[in-house]
Amino acid sequence: MRIKLSASSLLLLAIATTSLAAAPPGPERIEKIASERCESCHGQGGQGNNAMFPKLSGQNANYLVQQMFNFKSRARRSPVMEPQLADLSGDDIVQLARYFSTRPLKPTPVTDEQLGALGRALYMQGNPASGVAACYVCHGPTARGGQMLPRLAGQHADYLELQLRRFIERSRTTDQTLMHSVASKMTDQEIRAVSHFLSGLD
Ligand code: HEC
Ligand code: HEC
Repeated sequence: MRIKLSASSLLLLAIATTSLAAAPPGPERIEKIASERCESCHGQGGQGNNAMFPKLSGQNANYLVQQMFNFKSRARRSPVMEPQLADLSGDDIVQLARYFSTRPLKPTPVTDEQLGALGRALYMQGNPASGVAACYVCHGPTARGGQMLPRLAGQHADYLELQLRRFIERSRTTDQTLMHSVASKMTDQEIRAVSHFLSGLD
């Protein structure tokens, strides 16, 4: 009886102190957050129906987790993303990253073959004359990135361009060193070409 009593008072305490945010995130909860909060901008399954917002589908889970923590801590400043994550727990973030990373990614077919070819050459060889590093060295030969490196294959060209310009201006407030030194040597045409090429990659 004594054990029963203390167990029920523990349960009461647990009910009193547990908020919704602290409940373990089940698949329904994560799908609900995704559809009610994220997909209006990032598209169903994070597949990106609007080029203003990055695709999240197929993106590396660890990279997604890192970026969400960066937004939450304001290391990467985004007045749009920060409030979306403010009340989500670390567990929610990890589960959301897993959810989006396992949705299929749909690339956008390349429409300008010449621009695409220029982009491919830059991606694989860089530009030795101006010192632009070959992207594949870090982002991988198929542009799928790695644990902490973003996948670029299939991402919206407009978003890739925007981020490259932010790295140049240092207004993407994380990773100042690596991507700043790569992007700041690129011409406008190289930025457009590599973004066009990447958006068409599977
Ligand atoms: C009102 C529109 C909007 C909503 C809603 C929204 N996002 Fe975003 N998200 C953005 C924008 C804009 C960016 C690009 C931020 C930047 O670099 O300025 C972004 C970027 C991201 C990134 C970084 C992607 C990358 O490739 O670096 C992640 C991860 C992300 N959002 C996850 C989420 C999740 C998870 C939700 C739901 C909880 C969500 N977003 C809701 C607009 C939105
Ligand atoms: C020395 C390694 C390295 C090289 C070379 C490199 N990158 Fe990156 N890139 C990174 C890292 C690290 C990040 C993640 C930055 C962060 O965490 O904010 C990144 C991020 C990016 C992003 C942001 C993606 C997103 O989803 O928000 C783009 C776009 C990008 N790189 C394009 C390129 C292109 C194009 C090239 C070649 C011209 C290139 N990178 C070469 C290391 C590299």
